[in-house]
Amino acid sequence: MHTKQLLENTIKQMVQPGKGILAADESAPTIASRFASIDVESTEQSRSSYRSMLFSTPCIEDYISGVILFEETLGQTTEEGKPLPELLAQRGIVPGIKVDKGKGPLALSPGDLITYGLDGLAERLQHYKSQGARFAKWREVYSISEQNPSTLGIAANAEMLARYAAVCQEQGIVPIVEPEVLIDGSHSMARCAEVTEAVQHEVFNALHRHHVALEHIILKPNMVLPGKEHSVRASAEEIAAATMKVFQRTVPAAVPSINFLSGGMSPEESTENLNALNAGFPNAPWLLSFSYGRALQQPVLQSWQGKKENVANAQQSLLKRARLNGAAQLGEYQSSMEA
Ligand code: 13P
Repeated sequence: MHTKQLLENTIKQMVQPGKGILAADESAPTIASRFASIDVESTEQSRSSYRSMLFSTPCIEDYISGVILFEETLGQTTEEGKPLPELLAQRGIVPGIKVDKGKGPLALSPGDLITYGLDGLAERLQHYKSQGARFAKWREVYSISEQNPSTLGIAANAEMLARYAAVCQEQGIVPIVEPEVLIDGSHSMARCAEVTEAVQHEVFNALHRHHVALEHIILKPNMVLPGKEHSVRASAEEIAAATMKVFQRTVPAAVPSINFLSGGMSPEESTENLNALNAGFPNAPWLLSFSYGRALQQPVLQSWQGKKENVANAQQSLLKRARLNGAAQLGEYQSSMEA
């Protein structure tokens, strides 16, 4: 199939009202720390059991249109020997793959970060494609301080995202473009808005320079929020208004979907804020949805505790959060639905 047709088909399947993306692409150290929080050792076996449990949750395909996997997971199977990407595909869920190799300091630019992994990316994508992946994810991270992110940091990170996205599209893989302005710190919501606007502006400038077709990407940004340690909290409506103001200024209407990350918001906050966006702005030019990791999985880990006898309950916890976020995508969530 022509790459353009592949990209169109994947976007069509992933971007659906009432549905979003499950981020289950924690790297080895990250999943180990999530498991440590419930006293479970991270082994090849425990990781595949956990992820098999997530992906075989009954009815999850009603609310989840895509799952982001870690490289190891693409090659893992269920207890019955079915490859996990195949399990997802058979349920109508598109399997995707995190392709960046993590972040480190940007040289000579104190406080700025940069993500690795462009070398050999085209060849890696061909291999992942043969294992069933149809979309990819790359995350650049920006931490806020008085000096950061710097102008150089913002430009360098945008360049990485655009080069990654171009390689993906050339291979017929839909790129999820993820510039994450971190929630950590005591900055105000206005400062987060200022940084997020500069970041998005530069990202779309770079995507344009690298000939990336905006119709065939999914944007995965942070919401505009006050820093975690900021003295004043914001309501869901204030967050939705500040977020929309930034994205209306920076994201072209050609982008089909904005799937927010949860980035340290609680599961309930993530749902409430997404709902406020959709209830407040029903005519937004893009689908406004979720691509949550922690906000979908925290309750699952708590219910699971690494025990076989808890699997059904853990799956119910995932289904509940997926269903509530699906409702939030439609602007139909109410806090009473948490009961
Ligand atoms: P969180 O929703 O936990 O922020 O994770 C999303 C993700 O994929 C980060 O890259």
